[in-house]
Amino acid sequence: MKNYVEDKNIIEQILNLKEGLGDELIILTHHYQRNEIVDIGHFRGDSFELSRKAAADKNARFIVFCGVHFMAESADILSQPHQTVQIPEKGAGCPMADMADIANVESAWEDVTSIVGMGTITPIVYMNSDANIKAFCGRNGGVVCTSSNAHTAFHWGFDQREKIFFFPDQHLGQNTGIQMGLQPEEMIVWDPKKRLGGNTQENIEKAKVFLWDGYCHVHTRFRVEHVLKMREKYPDAKIVVHPECSNEVVELADATGSTSFIVKYVDNAPSGSTIIIGTEINLINRLSIENPDKTVLELCYSLCPNMFKINLRNLLWTLENIGNSNVINVPKEIKSEAKMALDRMLALAP
Ligand code: 13P
Ligand code: SF4
Repeated sequence: MKNYVEDKNIIEQILNLKEGLGDELIILTHHYQRNEIVDIGHFRGDSFELSRKAAADKNARFIVFCGVHFMAESADILSQPHQTVQIPEKGAGCPMADMADIANVESAWEDVTSIVGMGTITPIVYMNSDANIKAFCGRNGGVVCTSSNAHTAFHWGFDQREKIFFFPDQHLGQNTGIQMGLQPEEMIVWDPKKRLGGNTQENIEKAKVFLWDGYCHVHTRFRVEHVLKMREKYPDAKIVVHPECSNEVVELADATGSTSFIVKYVDNAPSGSTIIIGTEINLINRLSIENPDKTVLELCYSLCPNMFKINLRNLLWTLENIGNSNVINVPKEIKSEAKMALDRMLALAP
């Protein structure tokens, strides 16, 4: 049960600390955060916008990142040496990011390059990954991407070399490949638990894209039956989904795009229209509040429990311990290689 009086009290304390720190502090919030956190932050955005902000803001000494761990890590990698990045709850991870660990990734890379040769594959790593996977990507001539620039990154990847190995979200990789005109058989899934990822040597030689066998449990919750049910109930509605959804769902939707794309889609929809969204519930609820002239509904209820771990209490605690608690410290050697891959992303046009 929410205690509104207590929350109001905590908000007041947070705002006092925020005011006291002035320009020394920047609070970055992801769109999937609770409303009260987004309201307190200085800047809200999707993972691409937040990383760009972290790289651009060279003044603030303290960056407090209200999002999940890999996002805060990326902010640390892109920040200046005099800046400290803190996350209010270190346990706010991402199960999809955890699906690609460095030992498995290195071993898959060795398997594939021993068959197709070195210099034929560009590694592309989704922002939703550990810093050491980004570092792997950096030292092997690859790039980081987010859901808002995956197409640009794929085009860049194919300009460099003839094949792409995409980590760790198979759905974003598959949806991007299909939208670029690749045939489903040109993309193969790599299951790290199986020999050669569950593929034959011939498949590997023919493949244009290797898709790591990872997925987001929040976005794969949306199913074809949800789309069909909502279409029947709201025949005039538009359905928009995040590209971490399965391709079957993406194919049935009216539009697909990153978190910021979805925000703009709702903003630009005509007054009186109904928009049904397949993404995290906190964003959908906020869009509904911020667009009272439109009906904004969820395709089905799906909450990211990790994003939800950030709350008023741990944000207050972070500000009370500014510069000290839950500091993100990516080791120096990982940082420099991961930064190469992140800088390449920031240099690509969106
Ligand atoms: P965005 O890149 O759209 O911000 O998405 C991040 C994320 O974690 C989606 O599940
Ligand atoms: Fe990870 Fe999915 Fe949560 Fe995004 S929504 S942070 S991909 S678990």
